[in-house]
Amino acid sequence: MNAGAGPLEPLEPIPETSEAERMVADELPIGSTVERAERVRDSVPLWFHTFALAPGIYTPGIARDHGYRLPVMTADRFAGRSVLDIGAFDGFYSFLAEARQARRVVAVDNEQYIDWVRARFGVTLAGSAGFRAIADLLASQVQYQRMDALDVRELGERFDVVLCFGVLHRVTDPITLLRTLADVLASGGEVVVETYGSHLPAGVPAIEVHQPGAVNSRDDFFYWGFPAEGLRRLARSVGLGEVTVIDERDVDGHPRILATLRAAR
Ligand SMILES: C[S@@+](CC[C@H](N)C(=O)[O-])C[C@H]1O[C@@H](n2cnc3c(N)ncnc32)[C@H](O)[C@@H]1O
Repeated sequence: MNAGAGPLEPLEPIPETSEAERMVADELPIGSTVERAERVRDSVPLWFHTFALAPGIYTPGIARDHGYRLPVMTADRFAGRSVLDIGAFDGFYSFLAEARQARRVVAVDNEQYIDWVRARFGVTLAGSAGFRAIADLLASQVQYQRMDALDVRELGERFDVVLCFGVLHRVTDPITLLRTLADVLASGGEVVVETYGSHLPAGVPAIEVHQPGAVNSRDDFFYWGFPAEGLRRLARSVGLGEVTVIDERDVDGHPRILATLRAAR
């Protein structure tokens, strides 16, 4: 860790759940009993996503400002569709897609988070513990697999919607990842990408390169920042020529970008 940047920051305290995250969590009210909700909340030492387990009982997720993603999580996008969620972590978006009546949802994660959660917070997570705890509460049919996103062709399946949230800036080869995702799209399907954005001037066809540890001194997996035009050109290079940028904004002090990518018709 921290191969190139300045001194390590101290371990981060696990932040309190914010009201904004509770509002996002309320999109998926789980409605468990208080006793079971408290048991599940306390069974996982660190949550990435905030879940509304029971009235007034939430998991203390560390992810921030996910509200800006909700405009792409509409029922018309998911109803009757097959969905692949890349880098699902605790699975909030997989379970939300299922709640939005997706026909089938597959979630994959290479569990890279175990490394950066340990480095940033000093907490050792068991892989997929949060995901499985929520799947159990929801009696969910979402199929989880520990798998690298670059290997999803091995699933032998095509999907109407691929969710790629918070991952593209974390892979060393974003073109190969986008090509892999394009290859598992069903005809007319789309990749919904949420990733690290950039403050480079609008319209610059570039990708920003971050020093290891520069975005967070204990997380070496922030490689890239994508301005809209850079993302557009990458998508075009893998045959996803119809790019719609849904939003670009600073989230918790960091530039982010949200877009849909489809093959041009
Ligand atoms: C920042 S979290 C985002 C979680 C969730 N998608 C979201 O946006 O709320 C990134 C997740 O992607 C996973 N990940 C990173 N690189 C991956 C890869 N090459 N293949 C599969 N999962 C990956 C990490 O383990 C982590 O769970």
